[in-house]
Order: sequence, then C-alpha cells, then structure tokens
Amino acid sequence: MSLNMSGKTDKAKPMTPDAETLAPGAGSKVPGAGSKVLGAGPDNKGLFAAGFDQGKEDPLIASAGPDRAVAGIAGARPDRAVAGMAGTGPDRAASVISEMERYKIAVDEEETGFVTQVGDGVARVAGLRNCESGEMLEFECGIIGMAINLEENSVGCVLLGDETSVHEGMRANRTRSAVSVGVGDCLVGRVVDALGRAVDGRGDIVSDKTRPIEFMAPGVNDRQGINTPMQTGIVAIDSMIPIGRGQRELIIGDRQTGKTTIAIDAIINQKGKGVTCIYVAIGQKASSIASIAQTLEKHGAMEYTIIVASTAGDPACMQYIAPYAGCAMAEEFMYSQKKDVLIVYDDLTKHAVAYRSISLILKRPPGREAYPGDVFYLHSRLLERAARLSDELGGGSITALPIIETQGGDFSAYVPTNVVSITDGQIYLQPELFFSGQRPAINVGISVSRVGGAAQTKAMKKVSGSLRINLAQYRELEVFAQFGSDLDVATQNRLAHGERIVESLKQMNQSPLELEDQVILLYTVSGKELMGIPTKQLRQFNSAFMLHMAENLPQVLDNIRVTGQLSPDDEECLKHAIEEFKEEWLKPGWGKGRQRVRAT
Ligand SMILES: Nc1ncnc2c1ncn2[C@@H]1O[C@H](COP(=O)(O)OP(=O)(O)O)[C@@H](O)[C@H]1O
Ligand SMILES: [Mg+2]
Repeated sequence: MSLNMSGKTDKAKPMTPDAETLAPGAGSKVPGAGSKVLGAGPDNKGLFAAGFDQGKEDPLIASAGPDRAVAGIAGARPDRAVAGMAGTGPDRAASVISEMERYKIAVDEEETGFVTQVGDGVARVAGLRNCESGEMLEFECGIIGMAINLEENSVGCVLLGDETSVHEGMRANRTRSAVSVGVGDCLVGRVVDALGRAVDGRGDIVSDKTRPIEFMAPGVNDRQGINTPMQTGIVAIDSMIPIGRGQRELIIGDRQTGKTTIAIDAIINQKGKGVTCIYVAIGQKASSIASIAQTLEKHGAMEYTIIVASTAGDPACMQYIAPYAGCAMAEEFMYSQKKDVLIVYDDLTKHAVAYRSISLILKRPPGREAYPGDVFYLHSRLLERAARLSDELGGGSITALPIIETQGGDFSAYVPTNVVSITDGQIYLQPELFFSGQRPAINVGISVSRVGGAAQTKAMKKVSGSLRINLAQYRELEVFAQFGSDLDVATQNRLAHGERIVESLKQMNQSPLELEDQVILLYTVSGKELMGIPTKQLRQFNSAFMLHMAENLPQVLDNIRVTGQLSPDDEECLKHAIEEFKEEWLKPGWGKGRQRVRAT
C-alpha cells in the first residue's frame, strides 16, 4: 500500500509545537492540584468528551468548557502567579513559572480516540482533541480514515477502506500526517485507485515518494501568464476556443454529447509533445474506464498517461478524494520534474454528489439542491492548483479539463454555475447539434476561452480569425432561410460558405489533427475555393487535400510546425496548391487506386 505512514508517531512522544499552539494551556499540571487537567484549550475542538479513557489507570478530568478549564488551572495563570507572589520578588515568580513549564512536559499527551459511531463509510471518533482537518487517522484494524469534520466532542472521518472491519469502541490513532498518495514516474502507464494502488492487475506499484492529496495552490507570484498552446487536436477547439498550458477549461454538456471523447482525444493528441496526462474517472462504470484505458492503449497514449479510477461502486469517500489524489500526482510532475501535465476530471458533477452524500451523513446543514455550503470551495481549491509556474520555479504547468454533466441543458444549476465561474472558459456541448450529426457538438456561440488566445500560434490566429464571426452570421441567416426561398445571391453565398465551414469542422473521434494540418484545413475553408465542391463531399476533399500537401509540399507543413507561422511565401504556395488540386479533384475518376481518405 502506498499510503504515507511516516507521520505516525509514538504516543509517548512529546507534543509538537504545532499541536501545542492548537490548544494553548492544554496539559499544564497545577502543583498541588492533585489531578491533571486536559483539554483546557480555548478552541472548541480542543475540548474533551466526557468519559474518554475511562479504562485507564490514571483518571483524567474531562473539562467540559473553557470556564472550567480556567477554574481548574486558576493558580497556573502567570498573572495570578505573579499576584500571589507579590512581595516575594521577581526571582521567586520566575522560578514558579519555570517549575510550571517543567510539569507541562510531564503531562501524558494522549492522541488516541475511540469510535462512537460507524456507518455509510463514515465514522465518528471521540477523544481526538488536537486532530486536524484532512489528517489521516489509523484504526486498530488497520483501516485508514481521513478527518473532515471537526466537531466539539468528536471528529467525523471518512473511511478509506472496508468499513465492515471498523466497529464502535475501536481505537483510532492520530498520525499527524495528511492523507497522501504515492507519486512519480512509476505510476505512468498504470490504472490506479484513489489511493494510488494498482487496479490494473499488473503488480503493485512501489513509489519512493508521496505527496499530500490536499496541497496549497501556488500564489500569484509563483505563476506566469499562459504562453504555450495545449493543442487538443480538435479543429473547432484549437481554432476558436484555444487552450493554453496551465489553463482550466471546462467541458460542459448533457450526457452522451461527447464530453469524455473530447478529453480523451486531447490526451491522444499529446503524443510526442512532452505532456504527461492524468485521467481521473469519478463515479464512472468500471467498464467505461476499462474501455477508455483500451482506447488510450490502442493509440499508444498510455505511455504517458495515468488513469485514476474511482468507480460508481467505490465508496463515496474514494470518489471524493480521487481528483485531489490525481492532482497530487500531477503536482509531482509540475513542481519536481518541471514538466507540463494535462489532467482531466471526469466528472465533477459526480464528485459533488459524492461529497454531498458524505456531508449529509456527517449531518452538515444542506443548502441549495441539498449540497453543503462549501461545494464551491470543494472545486475551487482543486482547480486553483492548476497553474503555469514561473520560470524561477521551473516553468512546469498543470492544465485542467474538468467535465460537468448538465441535466436537460440546465447550464444555470448550482454546481455548473460554480465551476463555470472557477474556470477560464467553457466548451459547451449541445445535444441538438450532436444528434444532427455535427460532432464534436460544440456550441461556438457560448463557448469561450478567456486566456488561451494569448498562447495561440500566429499561423492559427491568421487562418481562424474570421471563423467565429462567419459561423455566427451563418447561424443567424440559417434561421431566416427556413422561412423563405427567394434569397438574394449574396445571402445564398454566405449560407453556402457557412455550410461548408460547419461541414469542415466535423471531426471523428480519436482522430486528432496536428497543428499544420489544421492550418491547411482552415486556410482552405476560409477562402472561396471550396464553393465549387458539393458539401457532402467536402470532408473527403479536405482529407485528400491534406494528404496531397503532406506528399507533395512537405516543406510548407514543416515551416508551419517549426515556426508556428504561415509566411507569405507559404501562403502563396498553399493557394496555388488548392486551385490546382481542386481542378484535378473535380475531374471524373480522380484518385482511382489511391487512398482518398485521410482521417479527419
Ligand atoms: N466526434 C465524434 N465523432 C463520432 N462519434 C462521437 C464523437 N464524439 C462522441 N462520439 C460518440 O458519442 C458517444 C458519447 O460520447 P461520450 O464522450 O461518452 O459522451 P459523454 O461523456 O458526454 O457522456 C460515444 O459513443 C462516442 O463514441
Ligand atoms: Mg462521459
């Protein structure tokens, strides 16, 4: 198991300064008072539950509140001490205080609690006064839990394992370390669960390094602007909704509209681009995850990909921690190896639902749509961890593609609006477009990328500049065209052009295009050359032309790839090539005996 147990401490060990500051005053023994006073901390979480440790030899007084605590240690407060010693000189007072310090160390610092309630993957543990939020707890039976609810008399914790072995009265120890997962290169190519344990049947993973699953996001000074494109290989996205490395771009839409497909295609497209990919499946069917792993394997993408799988059958807490665990794995590559990472959270709706069920069991007050009040924080602290680090920190990046599933296109529900406001843009997928055959079914009108434009290559900017406006105009005219047939020539031309743009942007799944191919395709689409080609044959023409370019004018493609620009010479060359090729292509019997179709 790759859990970090290193923080587990001996009960007899003295308190850490941290724990001491959490409950100041706790554990001071008053000379002559006859009994030890514990739990005198001013904060609620430091209070002890009455009845704790009853079976022990040395009975401890459970103080029920700050008042009692103060009463109990009345003589121990420095002011009283000084007042009581009035007239006897400062030396005497100082020596009493130092005497008190000595007793403080001698106090037995208990870090063990006991389970008072267990069920639905959640346990309540009483008696852990200094337990911190997110801390790992170890139960007597070996199961690990994570403290997520600090209450006055108990700690609510989620069980990261089989809850049947945990029962009431069982001891639970603090470990003083946050829940961590194994990280590093050994995970690449593997399918792991939310705790980093292999689930692909290819043997255990032994990682020599761990990272806490919850980690502070880098601050503004540690970041830099988006400056490198994260090519998804999907023409409609790379041209109109460009994503940069370090960006957070939401993929949102109803079920079965191609959300997962976009994310998987983006991963497939990272081949040879030096980007490590992490696909986090949250609450999905095990069979879907297996087929995704197969698809990635087929395209050679598992060589640089980790799949973190928490299936619908896993306990809610595993689904809850899966994205944080995936993010911790990504951070290792970004911070330590200074690499670029692409992480997909599929999907955060199910994540919020898992968190909601945990919260309701923990009796947190439900709010809108029965979610607890901190659902926004749940996702913001996850997505804030995506960043483009400054050069001083190595310049690594985490690009996040969270996915949200809407119900009946309800974009304005609680969780979707939350995540829309956290991310740097969204790709909105529409069922109507999907069923009408426009795939990927991106609604360009309401899809945006707020920062990625800064990273777009010059060549792409040049050929895609007017694409959005042309499409918008086409959509508008399309509505009018439905009512009347006697349209003027200019309108008819515009409609025909728009139709061809829409057709050219259709792209099969699992067939991402390289930047240079996209530039050629979009250059062809933006001109008037395509007008003579029947719309139905357009995709065939496009793929044939891309193949023609790769075979006959590879230097143009090389120039675009290397410089990221479409120079005037190359543009001229491309223009001629299109004209010549179109003439050839329209001749009857073109392409007999050769491969006419290149994947688009
Ligand atoms: N561009 C595309 N071309 C062809 N089929 C697609 C395309 N995008 C998605 N599909 C198909 O649509 C189905 C649903 O896609 P999926 O990505 O699983 O949807 P979601 O994740 O939104 O539920 C899948 O069978 C997938 O193969
Ligand atoms: Mg999906």
